[in-house]
Amino acid sequence: MTEDLIAAAREAMSRAYAPYSGFAVGAAVRADNGKIYSGCNVENSAYPEGLCAEAAAIAAMVNAGAQKIDEVCVMGRGDNLVTPCGGCRQKIREFAAGSTAIHVCGPEGIRRTTTLDELLPLSFGPENLK
Ligand code: THU
Repeated sequence: MTEDLIAAAREAMSRAYAPYSGFAVGAAVRADNGKIYSGCNVENSAYPEGLCAEAAAIAAMVNAGAQKIDEVCVMGRGDNLVTPCGGCRQKIREFAAGSTAIHVCGPEGIRRTTTLDELLPLSFGPENLK
């Protein structure tokens, strides 16, 4: 259930390695096997080498053998919505449908639920290569 996904993102956020931006992010995805995979952002002293939380969660999912995302949760602090960055929208696109729910959360819970289609309209994906 969505509460479990939110809890996983919150726990991941608590493990973020973000000494440069000071901005911790946690992400969790529910795969079609029903399991939840989570990740946090991992920054690097060579700044562009940092990893987003969504990318870490997706890597954990794929490494566990799942390749379909049914639901996504991204969590960060601050007053503004912590929506997935452009690169992460494309990474989600690889494994999710346009209608897949993406919950944008603060530590207190869901602030807005959107879909991949809304975040990445007219997207390019695996089908485009056929
Ligand atoms: N960040 C994420 O982890 N996910 C996003 O979608 C937005 C940005 C991270 C990257 C960086 O470590 C920090 O937030 C500030 O940009």
